[in-house]
Amino acid sequence: MLTSVPRGTKDILPDTIHQWLYLEEKIRELCAKYGFNEIRTPLFEHTELFLRGIGETTDVVEKEMYTFEDRGGRSITLRPENTASAVRAYLQNKLYADNNLTKLFYIGSMFRYDKPQAGRYREFHQFGVEAIGEQNPLMDAEVISLGADFLKELGLTDVILKINSVGCPKCRPVYREKLQAFFKDKFEHLCKDCQSRFDRNPLRILDCKNPTCKELSVGVPEITDCLCDECADHFEHLQHHLKAIGVDFVLDPRLVRGLDYYTKTAFEFKYTPLGAQSAVLGGGRYDGLIEECGGNPTPAVGFATGLERVLLALETQQLLPKNKEKCTVFIVAMGDKAKEPAFKLLHELRSKNIAALMDYAGRSMKAQMKQANKHNAQYAIILGEDEIDKQIATVRNMNDSEQMEIPFDTLIDKIIFEVNK
Ligand code: HAM
Repeated sequence: MLTSVPRGTKDILPDTIHQWLYLEEKIRELCAKYGFNEIRTPLFEHTELFLRGIGETTDVVEKEMYTFEDRGGRSITLRPENTASAVRAYLQNKLYADNNLTKLFYIGSMFRYDKPQAGRYREFHQFGVEAIGEQNPLMDAEVISLGADFLKELGLTDVILKINSVGCPKCRPVYREKLQAFFKDKFEHLCKDCQSRFDRNPLRILDCKNPTCKELSVGVPEITDCLCDECADHFEHLQHHLKAIGVDFVLDPRLVRGLDYYTKTAFEFKYTPLGAQSAVLGGGRYDGLIEECGGNPTPAVGFATGLERVLLALETQQLLPKNKEKCTVFIVAMGDKAKEPAFKLLHELRSKNIAALMDYAGRSMKAQMKQANKHNAQYAIILGEDEIDKQIATVRNMNDSEQMEIPFDTLIDKIIFEVNK
């Protein structure tokens, strides 16, 4: 117990941290280009926010939340997603006061009591964006194109964008009724979960992974046939805008997403080699959520992508970046007399912004050279008792093994010169 992480969580170790930094750098560059600003919200919120925001009949709320009572008797939940928190922060901090449109992005841990497997964890990381305050389908197209750009900039190919419209409170009841009529005769054969979804949230049946439920829903009525004029028009325009900017998509009338706040647009980017966890990025419009959380009716659209899944996808296409540790100089100090001058040199190099390391344990020359290689050092500076006596250091270029003898008083300048050559 003491030496293992809780199930479904992972350490991100120094040998892979560069992959995360790489993703974060890409995200920040991309969001700056699209005018989205970073927000960081607490890892936990009042449970009520998620009950209201995500929907009480969703799997996330019913089965997957980490909810506990704190010492003050409040019900607290580790955030299972960040849209509800972003909306809460938007309202609490009146972010609408200065702008009609607020564009936010976030990177951080989310928590769901999911069944852990490759690509599915209990603590996972999302990058997400939320554009709050714009109803024009151009906004949906911008958000989708940002998602597409993110995956494209990482070099990922064979990703399929699926889009759908899940309607609005005006037209969805019509579809609900049609769905219930369709599943009525099949009710007995549906799984237990879907039987309970039948009354409470029949759209969820379309999202069920149970093979029997999947089979039973063959030939199900399509929501896009039930859309009101406004939703149909919005969906039509969105498709038009995506085509205009060359974002390929396929229509998937069964795409309903796992959270209840969606209205109109719903979309997912799928990368099929990840199997059951093929959804690498998902989102949609949520025009009712801000009002549900106590604000004025405000349209909004966003997405989130699971960064672990993105890394898994990059791995399958050998697109993960190499670990480039930045150690320019490794000082090989031989013998006690060399240690302190070497330590001073180490300090001076760092003060001149040169990444430098040395060994303190007095290992053999061979062992220290091995360390220099392991750290990808460009140069090794060898300081032995002889060198100290003569005030001359031996500098070895680790790429071609060429050696130079450099007097101490010009050593730093020479290294700076060589490094910047
Ligand atoms: P979501 O579809 O629940 O949407 O999650 C978004 C993405 O997070 C998924 O496509 C997947 O890549 C990743 N993900 C979800 N659960 C796990 C898990 N257990 N382990 C690993 N990765 C996971 C949302 O969270 C919405 N808040 C997205 C959104 C933002 N909609 C509008 N704005």
